[in-house]
Amino acid sequence: MSSESPSSPFPGALSRRQWLRTTGLGVGASVALPGLLPAAEMSRVLGGGLPYSALLTQMERDVTTARRAAGPIRLNFNENPFGMSPKAKDALMGNWAQHTWYMPPVRDELTATFAKQVGVPVDHVLVTQGSSEVLSIAALAANAPGGEMVAPWPTFEDLPRWGETLGITVHKVPLDHRFDHDLYQMDAKLNGNTKLVFVCNPNNPTSNLADDQALRDFVSNAARRTTVVVDEAYYDFVTQPGYRSMTDLVLKGEPIIISRTASKIHGLAGLRIGFAVARPDIIRKLSQYVTGDPNVFGLSAANASLMDAEYVAFVRGRIIEGRQMLLDALATLGKKAAPSQTNFVFFQAGKPVEQMQRYFAAKGFTIGRAFPPYTDWCRVSIGTPEEMKQFVGVLPGAFA
Ligand SMILES: Cc1ncc(COP(=O)(O)O)c(C=O)c1O
Repeated sequence: MSSESPSSPFPGALSRRQWLRTTGLGVGASVALPGLLPAAEMSRVLGGGLPYSALLTQMERDVTTARRAAGPIRLNFNENPFGMSPKAKDALMGNWAQHTWYMPPVRDELTATFAKQVGVPVDHVLVTQGSSEVLSIAALAANAPGGEMVAPWPTFEDLPRWGETLGITVHKVPLDHRFDHDLYQMDAKLNGNTKLVFVCNPNNPTSNLADDQALRDFVSNAARRTTVVVDEAYYDFVTQPGYRSMTDLVLKGEPIIISRTASKIHGLAGLRIGFAVARPDIIRKLSQYVTGDPNVFGLSAANASLMDAEYVAFVRGRIIEGRQMLLDALATLGKKAAPSQTNFVFFQAGKPVEQMQRYFAAKGFTIGRAFPPYTDWCRVSIGTPEEMKQFVGVLPGAFA
């Protein structure tokens, strides 16, 4: 018997009936659902009868089980432990025809969806291969060998690294004693040869948010002299009242490039979708430097996920819950931690990070690397609440 379903566009794919038979599932088999059954598939198996919130709860249990079964729990790369939205999973195959096309319409659809959510016209948006590509093309488009860049340090390293690769002198300005961008010192580094300024808010690896007005004033001031890149990868996890994206400065016409990503709250890091928000002339210039087109899987999943408000709220809620659990545990142990506004926590271990990594590896967790000069501080990404419960359970032993 052929393994192809007459309705399947994918040669070799199992038909749904065949798949259900192979997995021992059939109509009404809800009690027998295996732990790793993709949530969207499950919604169809159940005839859509399961409310979406229940589906997400089921998915949370599934991913926690699956992540534990896959080896040490990854709390090292600030990934989304829940994976992608069930609706994004559906959309991956839903757009199958466009998999064979150049210039797939879903790219424009995603541009429009994102632009609407952010509150800018579509010509202010470029969809990229992850937000890392926004940073690389910003460096390339500066076309500035022999020029200079100003960045806080430590921070997300891609833009400074691209600058150095391209022969730009990068002034890495140490964060101040509260892990804030040292805006005074950064400003002092600006001169007529400065081609780019980088700010990252909230900052990685320190997790904290800058003072809103001070950073805005700095960015606007710097933008009078040069292009400023504002990395907002962790925008969706900020809970601090009054926090705003800097898109309003872009709309005022300032030469600011904002980078955002589908890798974090949308859980699509492996599918590589990011966004630049900037003035249309800057968007046109950036687009001349892209190294390829985002793939249709990523575009489709991101578009569905951006429209899946319930999933976004679910992830945000769970991550904030896990973040608070870890911050509370650290406070109880009397440990210093940065006030996290991201999906990770940065805390003082008081011993080399490598020792902490070894301890947690033995307990089944992978944590972040050292971020000089803070070599006795640990960066721990937030997993599912159940994972964080387990992590907090073994935390005191790390300080013994
Ligand atoms: C601050 C910051 N910016 C950008 C990125 C890159 O993300 P992506 O290229 O997956 O969008 C990361 C990834 O961890 C990050 O922490």
